[in-house]
Amino acid sequence: MHFEIVKKAKTNYDWRVILVEEGEFAAPSSLSEDVGALFTKLAAKENFSGKPGQCLRGETWDGKTLVRIVLAGYGKKTELTREKRGAALCKALKPLHGAVLLESAEKSFLDPDALGALAEHLNYRFEKYKTAKKDKEKKEALNLEIVDPKGAGKTPEGSKLGVISNIVRDLVNEPANNMTPAILAEEAEKLSKTYGFSCRVYNEKEIAKFGMTAFLAVGSASAHPPRLIVLRYTGNKKEKTAVGLVGKGLCYDAGGLSIKPTASMLTMKSDMTGAATVIGVLCALAENKVPKNAVAVIAACENVIDGAGYKPGDIVTAMNGKTIEITNTDAEGRVTLADALTYIRHKENVSEIIDVATLTGAIMVALGEHITGVFTNTKENFDKLAKAGEKWGERFWNMPMDAEFAEMVKSHIADLKNSAGRWGGASSAAKFLEEFVDGKPWMHLDIAGTSFSEEGTSYYPKGATGETVKTLYSYIKDFA
Ligand code: BES
Ligand code: MG
Ligand code: ZN
Repeated sequence: MHFEIVKKAKTNYDWRVILVEEGEFAAPSSLSEDVGALFTKLAAKENFSGKPGQCLRGETWDGKTLVRIVLAGYGKKTELTREKRGAALCKALKPLHGAVLLESAEKSFLDPDALGALAEHLNYRFEKYKTAKKDKEKKEALNLEIVDPKGAGKTPEGSKLGVISNIVRDLVNEPANNMTPAILAEEAEKLSKTYGFSCRVYNEKEIAKFGMTAFLAVGSASAHPPRLIVLRYTGNKKEKTAVGLVGKGLCYDAGGLSIKPTASMLTMKSDMTGAATVIGVLCALAENKVPKNAVAVIAACENVIDGAGYKPGDIVTAMNGKTIEITNTDAEGRVTLADALTYIRHKENVSEIIDVATLTGAIMVALGEHITGVFTNTKENFDKLAKAGEKWGERFWNMPMDAEFAEMVKSHIADLKNSAGRWGGASSAAKFLEEFVDGKPWMHLDIAGTSFSEEGTSYYPKGATGETVKTLYSYIKDFA
């Protein structure tokens, strides 16, 4: 489906879809008086009141052309969510094809960013591994239009961010055999050229020179060597600092010697979603020429099994000199992030740090699949992030960072241990990371629940969601 803002309505649409607020039906002024009156009567007759998902189709002759109309219930405008918008529009559009004009008496229903993002969201398929004829090609074209003389001809930010969220979903959905650290680095490089930002990739030897021993320990069992990926977008040359982004880049997480059960391993190609997300955020900033600076660091590796791998009981020294007792090789994300956080602090001039990570199963237990857990030492930044998320229907929750959680990751033999047991597992993981930010303003987004849908939800099909890309973009653009 294609979405466009036009200056003036065409004289001939295959369908006109009217998005209706719940309550007494009022025909939009864009309909002729006769047609408006007719549909007002029809709505009354059919008890159409605009409840979410309610749909009413009808056609009439207006003297010149055949007018085919769908009334689509959107519910109360104060209760509208991204999910409701998606469900209502999907239902209304399902049997249609051709040129469709969207209209509404309620202006907020026609928000071009929400519609643009939704259209791209609904367009997404991951079918490259299906050898039969692709669904996409079979579908008949649907061209959605809204009328807005001011926005006409421009591609709304929502559409652009939707396209980029879908690129992120592609990176995540790609199975791990075709998304090794080296391939992820190549993909980042390609995107950096397409969108216009810089990309520098470091190999194993160079990573060792940086002293990123903790990061290397996690990747040491893999036949696919690690890569350190550093991306830089400069939208404001006068400003010397940048927003620092760190993405967890586990191209596969089998758990290592503390091996995962088979079922839990099945989706662990998605353990690089944080990395894909920060790549997407840089694409978005560059595409929209946002006058801000951002740098992203990704420690990409695989956590698998081999004689050369790290073991429970090992002690590794992180780049900042702190020692970590490995009590569980499956708590690997924080070990790689320890060095990625130190790297960005030591080697880059960052004003604040945001890390994005599929870090713990515990955050899924706490918040489920629809809300991202945020841990921060700067509460104001959380408020801004949540505000930025409202525009895109992405939800965030500020999680506790009390001192007791830091006690849980202290080791009797080293400075820290990487795993602290089950209770409050998302918070103890966050406190572990805090040991590596040295007081800089910092937010940690645990996206384990929101990044990937195992079963599919009403809004997301099975697989990668691309969630948080749009919010992080808006946060940097509007608040950083
Ligand atoms: N990659 C996982 C977290 C995860 C779980 C992401 C499920 C997405 C879905 C992470 O590396 C992990 O294994 N965490 C452990 C930590 C524990 C050993 C302290 C967990 O959450 O069980
Ligand atoms: Mg793990
Ligand atoms: Zn992991």
